[in-house]
Order: sequence, then structure tokens, then C-alpha cells
Amino acid sequence: MRLAILGGGGFRTPLVYEAVAKSVTGLRVDEVILYDLDSQRLDSMRRVMAEMAEQLGPDATKVTATTDLTEAVTGVDFVFSAIRVGGAESRTIDERVALDLGVLGQETIGPGGLAYALRTIPVMQEIARTIAQASPDAWVINFTNPAGIVTEGMRQVLGPRVIGICDTPIGLVRRVGRTLGVDLDRLDYDYLGLNHMGWLRAARVDGVDRLPELLASDEMLGEIEEARLIGFDYVRQAGALPNEYLYYYLHTDSAIGRILEAGRTRGEFLVEQQGKFYRDVADECCTSPLKTWQDALHMREATYMAESRDDERREADVAGGGYQEVALRLMTAIAGDTSERMILNVGNSRDGGRIVDELPDDLVLEVGCVVDGNGVHPQEVAPPTLDQLGRMARLRAAERCILEAAITRDKGKAWEGFATHPLVDSPVLGHKLLDGYIARQPLVAALFD
Ligand code: G6P
Ligand code: MN
Repeated sequence: MRLAILGGGGFRTPLVYEAVAKSVTGLRVDEVILYDLDSQRLDSMRRVMAEMAEQLGPDATKVTATTDLTEAVTGVDFVFSAIRVGGAESRTIDERVALDLGVLGQETIGPGGLAYALRTIPVMQEIARTIAQASPDAWVINFTNPAGIVTEGMRQVLGPRVIGICDTPIGLVRRVGRTLGVDLDRLDYDYLGLNHMGWLRAARVDGVDRLPELLASDEMLGEIEEARLIGFDYVRQAGALPNEYLYYYLHTDSAIGRILEAGRTRGEFLVEQQGKFYRDVADECCTSPLKTWQDALHMREATYMAESRDDERREADVAGGGYQEVALRLMTAIAGDTSERMILNVGNSRDGGRIVDELPDDLVLEVGCVVDGNGVHPQEVAPPTLDQLGRMARLRAAERCILEAAITRDKGKAWEGFATHPLVDSPVLGHKLLDGYIARQPLVAALFD
């Protein structure tokens, strides 16, 4: 079994390597191939993982690295994509252009997420074409953000062999299981939405939905970070537990306030912190690249407060496996070794029909699925409420304008996307945002040259 990791020089890649190499699921991966455009960062991460491999012993999954995409994806069984087009610096511009116009500036939510999608989709479609040529049978696990619309763009090339993943939905489910004192495999849940906009609508144990009981209890809700963040009153009224990212839609002013109060965005913090990390590792006198990485990771995970999420929760999530465990479990199930219930980004179709009747069948939803050796099977879920449906349709409508603009280079479509995003909702502001991104994001400017 061979796995290619795209964006292999990225800071969190060793987490994926570690999960695969230690494989709690028993899946045997013989080789991990790291691919990145930045040879220096690639080499730093290769050294971190080589040290991990050495500690794991002679049978550990081998690590190789290349800056050649075709070479990386030829003859592989799985491709894991975690690239960040334009790097962390571009993330800070996504954030600041929006904030300067009084709008939420965030990695994946709001206009920042649209700008991110605009520069990322052309690159990801090109990568998808290379994979389709070099390894037509490979499964592609996409973590590249904004994962919903990016997966939708890649599906145009690869079809259902590309699956989008995120760690936040399962994090929520895990917290609910823990609060109810129920093992995850006994929890029959109903989760539906788009990436970073979803809802847990039922949590059944032995056929009984325990979500109403949880929602009614202050003590139990206190254990759920999403409920603390969004408000007990609201989640009770909604009768569902929203994904943590709904915070940005429901409490936009306070989210903006927190970022401004912190004086720097999450992206700005990461640019500084990661810059130091890569310099330290490149600097040969640093004792151990692995130790340097572990210290930096600890610091990164302990700073989630910067935007909205709290460290206590984050540490529990990291211990729970995070997105690397989602990837490992998905690969293991596809390899046919296990059958897993997972929340994944897949097309809106199920048994010849649609999962959500009102949405197009090529739209990528984030929904509970069963994965086994025959592939990914979305589960039947309750219909969305009108509020859920409206939010999903509205966001994806804006994101689909961006998808189209990224492919056709139609500036008007990009404007429409910014103008109709639920956190913008203004043609005038839409123009200002697009102009701002064209002025300050070279990769967005290049698209409309
Ligand atoms: C979670 C989300 C990812 C997102 C990340 C941001 O893991 O699921 O989609 O990219 O948080 O974390 P960061 O440390 O980069 O702010
Ligand atoms: Mn995510």
C-alpha cells in the first residue's frame, strides 16, 4: 500500500504519517510519498518524519519526498491532499481584505473562504487531472480547504473517487458520545450539512434519540463546546447541535470583535509561528527536528482561543485523533479491512435518488456514511429543516459562482459569488471585496489577467 501526501511540507503532515505508521486500525502502509512545491519545507518535514520512523523501528512505513507531482502520484493507492495554495501568507490576506471592509475575515468562512476557493480550485482540478492520468484507480482524500467546494470541483474530474474530510463533525459526535457515556460505535447519529456548516440532529442509542435529553440538561450541554460557543438557548430552540463553524454565522459581530481584539488573525499568528519553526529546523544546529516540531505543535494547538475555539476542547480532540485519524479510518475501510461509520463530503446521491431532494445531485454534502470495501455509502438522514436547507443553498450558491469563475475566469461570476455570500449580501460590498482580493492576492489577480 502506497500513500501520497500532497502538501507534504505542511506543518501538520507528520500527524498523518504518525497515524498511518502506528496504524491503530491495522492497515499496513508501506510507503508515504511527500509532495510539495517548496523543497525546503519538504525537506524539513521529511526529516521530522524520518526521525519518527527511526523511533518506530526498522519496519516503519518508509518516507520519501519529491517536488514532482506525477512522480508522487504514480502507482499509489491513496492520495491525501492537504495543500494550501499561496501558503499561510495568502491566508492572512484572505482575512485582512475582508476585515478591512468590516466583514468577517476567516480561513474558510465568509469572503476569505471564497478568495481561498478561487485560487485553489484551478490548482486542485489540475492535480485531479494528473491523478486521473497517473493513478486512475487511486482514492483521493481531500482535506484541502474550503473542503466542500474544492471536493465538488475535483469531482468534476475524478467522480466519486474523491472524498472530502473534516475533523469537526466527528469531534462533535465524539463529545456527544462522551457526555452521554456511550461508545461511538453504539451511537447512531444523524448529521447533515455542508463542510463547516452542519448539524447533528439525532443521537440514537438502542433506538432511542438521546439528543433531546442532552439539550435539556445544562450540565450535559456544558460539556459540549459548540453549545457553549453558540448558546444553550439557541441550540435548544433549534433542536440540534450545530457544527462549531456556525458560530461565525450566528455570532458574526462577536467573531469579528474577537479577532480585532486579539490584534492579529489566526493566519498572522501561524505565519509567525511556522516561520520560526521552519527556520529552526533548517538551522542545522537544532538538536532534533522531531522535538522542535512537537514543541511547535503543542503551542499551535494551545492557541485555539485566538478565534473561537478553546484549548481544553482542542487537546481532547487531538488526543481523539483529529483529521489524521479520519483519514486513516477511511483508508482502512476502503481497503476492505473494516466497515466504518463516518461523516464525509460526498455527492448528493443515494441508492439512485438524492440525499436532500431539494439540492442538485452533484452538490457535495457533508453527511453520515458507511464505508467498506465496496466504497462509500451515504446513510439515509431526516430531511433538512427550512432553515438548514436555506443556509446550505445560499452558501453553496455563492461558492458555486466561485467554482465557475475559477474555471471560466469570468470576473462577473466571481463578483456574484462575493455579493451573494450570506455574510456579505451586497452587490456594492461584493465589488469592493473582489477588487480588494485582485489588488492584494496575486493568485486571484492572475486568474483575471
Ligand atoms: C479544523 C478544521 C480545518 C481547519 C483547521 C484550522 O481542523 O476542520 O478545516 O483548516 O481547523 O486550524 P488552524 O490551526 O490552521 O487555524
Ligand atoms: Mn475542516
